[in-house]
Order: sequence, then structure tokens, then C-alpha cells
Amino acid sequence: MDDLAELLDRNRDWARRRVEAQPDFFLRLSRQQAPRYLWLGCSDSRVPANEILGLDPGEVFVHRNVANLAVHSDLNFLSVLQFAVEFLRVEHVIVTGHYGCGGVRAALGDKPLGLVDNWLRHLRDVHARYRERLAALTDPAAREDLLVELNVRAQVLNVARTPIAQAAWAQGRRLTVHGWVYRLLDGILHDLGCAIDGPDGIEDEYRLRMRGF
Ligand code: CO
Repeated sequence: MDDLAELLDRNRDWARRRVEAQPDFFLRLSRQQAPRYLWLGCSDSRVPANEILGLDPGEVFVHRNVANLAVHSDLNFLSVLQFAVEFLRVEHVIVTGHYGCGGVRAALGDKPLGLVDNWLRHLRDVHARYRERLAALTDPAAREDLLVELNVRAQVLNVARTPIAQAAWAQGRRLTVHGWVYRLLDGILHDLGCAIDGPDGIEDEYRLRMRGF
């Protein structure tokens, strides 16, 4: 308990500084949130959405999991996405991977880690899909970086393929799914240029006829 007392002290300091800078800060936020972005990122402690983006509480809706995966049967991710898109009317979903991702490194190896291997299977599927491109790289670090980027692109597609994104587009709402990657070494985000902003960005096999939905 003593270990955590410091955290509670830090919290009170933080809240006090916030109120000093902006007396109605918490009152205003307590009434409503109106974030403009949904961040889908890795759980890695070095990649905190708000800090990296320089955004205050209330400005970004966040979902994080190991290796920033958008899994179509993950009720948690889907619930976050639906709430953000349908109710908060977020217009930008930002899938953010990061170089040096432990999940990606694990998925490139053969060491069993337990339960998490089932989650990382989604990464192994990406690896298998791009086997030749990845095998062409002899430098293990370069291979790892490429899988980080390929994974982001795959997850951007996964978000776009959801009925949630397709329904938004069918209703004429603006929704763009972006793919970014973060470099731990310099703290800089890079846009991978793989954004999808409409149903044309997804393959026919995943298209749903959304009229009247
Ligand atoms: Co990671």
C-alpha cells in the first residue's frame, strides 16, 4: 500500500496544478467528453496516447492492447469502436504501432509465452501472409520494423472492414482510419500513408450491403 501512496500524492498534485491553470477544467470535463479521435495503440508503457499527441484529458478516446490489434471478434475493441464512432461521432481512428514492440518480436520467434501466444497468433498470421517480403530482409531489426508496419496496415484494414465503419460510411458520415507508427528512439510519429476513408478501401469479400441498416 505504501508503494502506491506516492501515486495518490502525485495525482493530487496533478489535479491541483490543473485547477490552478484552468479553474473550470474538471467541471467542464465532468459534464461531457467530445474527443475527436480514437486511438488504437499498443499497451506498451512507453507509448501513452495523450502524452505523445500533446492532448489533454477529454481529447482522445483510447483503446490499447498488446501489439495494437483490431480483432474482429474482440468484443472489447468492437465496443470501443462502436461507441466512439456511433455515439461520440469520432471522425478519425488512428491505429498506431511502434518500433521495438515486444509483441511483434515475440511473434517473430518460437518461444512459447503462454496465453498471450493465442493473441499473438494474429501477428503470426500477418507474418505468414508476408513471409517472402519479411524473409528477404536479413537484418533481424529491419524484419521486426517491417512486421510492425505490416501489422499496422493489416489492422487499419481490419477496422475498415467492421460493420461499424461500413455503417458510418453508408450513412454518409466521415470516418478515416489512419495507420501510424511511433519511434521509441525519438518520440516521433510517422504516417504510413495507408489511410482508408470509405468502402472502396476494403475488398469485395468484406463488403456489406448497408443500405437501410
Ligand atoms: Co508494443
